[in-house]
Amino acid sequence: MSGGRIPRAFIDDLLVRIDIVELIDSHVPLKKTGANYVARCPFHSEKTPSFSVNSNKQFFHCFGCGASGNAISFLMEFNHLDFVEAVEDLAAFAGIDVPREAAVAAADKADLQSLYDLMEQAADFYVQQLRTSAAGKQAVAYLKKRDLSGEVAATFRLGYAPADWQALTGRFDQQALLAVGLLGGNDNGGVYARFRHRVMFPIRDKRGRVIGFGGRVLDDSLPKYLNSPETPLFHKGREVYGLYELLKTNPKPQRIVLVEGYLDVIALAQLGISYAVAALGTAVSQAHLELLFRYTPELVFCFDGDNAGREAIWKAMDAAFSVLQDGRQIRIMLLPQGHDPDSWVRSQGVGAFSADLQASSVLSDYFFDHLAAEFNLGEMEGRAQYVNKAKPYLLKLPYSIFKDMMQARLQEISKSAVDVSDKTARLNYRLARTPQKKDSAPPLERRTLAMLVQIPSLIGVLEEQGVDWDALDFKGADKFKAILQVLLAEKPATTGVLLEHYRGHPDEGIITQLAAIKLEAGVEQEFSGAWEKLLEQGIDARFNRLLAKADSGSEQEKEEFRKLSMHRSRK
Ligand code: UTP
Ligand code: MN
Repeated sequence: MSGGRIPRAFIDDLLVRIDIVELIDSHVPLKKTGANYVARCPFHSEKTPSFSVNSNKQFFHCFGCGASGNAISFLMEFNHLDFVEAVEDLAAFAGIDVPREAAVAAADKADLQSLYDLMEQAADFYVQQLRTSAAGKQAVAYLKKRDLSGEVAATFRLGYAPADWQALTGRFDQQALLAVGLLGGNDNGGVYARFRHRVMFPIRDKRGRVIGFGGRVLDDSLPKYLNSPETPLFHKGREVYGLYELLKTNPKPQRIVLVEGYLDVIALAQLGISYAVAALGTAVSQAHLELLFRYTPELVFCFDGDNAGREAIWKAMDAAFSVLQDGRQIRIMLLPQGHDPDSWVRSQGVGAFSADLQASSVLSDYFFDHLAAEFNLGEMEGRAQYVNKAKPYLLKLPYSIFKDMMQARLQEISKSAVDVSDKTARLNYRLARTPQKKDSAPPLERRTLAMLVQIPSLIGVLEEQGVDWDALDFKGADKFKAILQVLLAEKPATTGVLLEHYRGHPDEGIITQLAAIKLEAGVEQEFSGAWEKLLEQGIDARFNRLLAKADSGSEQEKEEFRKLSMHRSRK
C-alpha cells in the first residue's frame, strides 16, 4: 500500500493502544512468570524458554539469541514484514485504520486498489484465453513442448495474450490499462497492447497480488521476452518472480535459489525444487537480497555458465557484500556452458541438481578464486592490483566476524597488511553481541540510564527537580545526555515507544541493550538517590581535575574551584 507517510504520532499512539503481551500471545502462546511472560523463543530453537515479554515496557527480549524490540519489531521479524506492513498489521490488530499524512492518500489508495483489481482480472483473462481460445492452443502446445505440466502452469497462472490488440480495450478501462502498462502509448497519441501473441507470466508480490507480467514469444522471434514497465504497482528492482508461489509451499525455506529466467523457476518447481525465484531481467539489487533474506538464511545464485551469467554474478557482488551479515550465507552455482537451470535440471534430474546445489561454492571462495584468476599473485604488482580490486568489496561488508575473516584471507593472499575494518561498526557489533553477565551489577550511570529507558516516566522526577545535568561527568556522559534530551522532548509512554524513536538510529543498539537489562521490582525508588550520586560523582571529577591544575588554571577556573570546595565541605 503506498500513499503518504504514516504520521509519527499515530505510530506512538498505536504502540500505546495495543498490548504487546496480547499481540505476541496470539502468535506464540505465553506463560506468566513473575512480572514477565515467557515462551520458547520463536527466533531460534531452544529447549527452555528464554524469550520474555514485558507488559510495562511493551518490550520483548530473548536472553538466548538477543532478539528484542517492540510490537512493530516483533511483527517485522515474526511475519517477515517491512516496517509499513508491520504498522498496517498492528493497526489491523488494534482494529483501526492507518492514516496517511498527504491529503490525497485516500484517493491514491482507492486508485491503487482498482489497479490491483484490473491486474487480477487481466490475469484471469489471459488464463481463460490460454484454455479456451483457438490461438491459445498454440500457446498450450508451446508449453507442452517445453515439458511443462498443466498443474504447474496452473500454479503459476500461466496465460496467453491474444494477437488481437483490441481484446483488452474492449473489456477494461483504457486509462487504467495504460497505468498498469498493459497498454503502451505511442508518439502520435495512439495506444497499443504491449503483450500480443505471447505466453503470459503473471508476476505476483509476496501477498499474491498481480503487479506485472512477463510475456514470451512462441517461437524464435525477438524480443524473446517483454516485461511490464515500471508502474505504481511494479518495481523491477524490488520484486522477484516466484516468491509468492514459493512461500505458499514453504513459508520458511532453508534456502532460496536465485535464477535468471521465468521458465527456470517454473521448471524447477515442477520437478520438486519449489524454492527458486528469478530477478526480473534486471541486475540483482540489494533490495532483492534484503527481501529474500527475510525468508531464508541461505541464497544460492544459480546462473548460466556462459559469459553473461558470469558477468551477472559479478555484478551481483556489490549488492551481495552489502547485505552479508552474520547468519546470512550466499553460495554460487555456475552451470556448464550452454545450460540454464531449466535445461540442466531436466537433463540431469533433481538428485544431481540438488547435489550440485549442496556442492556450490561459498561466496568467499568464489570471490577470491575469481580474482586470483585475473592477476599474477606471484608478483608484488599483481598482488597490489588484486588488493585494489578486492578492497572496495570488502569495505562494503557490514561488520561481522566474517568480515574479519575475509580481511585475514585478503592479507594472506596479498601478503600485505590491508585494512578494511570500520572501527565504529566493530565496536557497535561487539556492544550488541556482548551477553550481559548475570551477576555483574551495571555501573551506576548505566543502571540509572537503564531505569530511565525502562521507566521513561522517571524523566518527570528530573523535570520536577529542575533538570541539571551539566555536572554529569563520566565516560559516555554525552551519550547519556543525548538520551535524556530525547526522553525529555518525547516523553515516551513506554520503552516500546522510546525504541520506536530510535529505529534505524546509530544508538538503537544501545537503547535496546539498556531496555533488556534486568532491574529489580521497585527499582524506581532508587532513582532520585542514584541521580544525586551521579551528580556528586560529576562534581568530584570536576573538582579533582581543577585541583590538579590548581595553580595553572584561569581566574574563572579558580573561582569554580572555590565554589566546589565549599560545596564539598558542606556535605
Ligand atoms: P534467457 O534468455 O536466459 O531466457 O533470459 P530463459 O528464461 O532461459 O527463457 P527460455 O528458456 O529461452 O524461454 C533470462 C531472463 O531474462 C529476461 C527474462 O526475465 C528472462 O526470463 N529477458 C530475456 C528479458 O527480459 N528480455 C529478453 O528479451 C530476454
Ligand atoms: Mn531457458
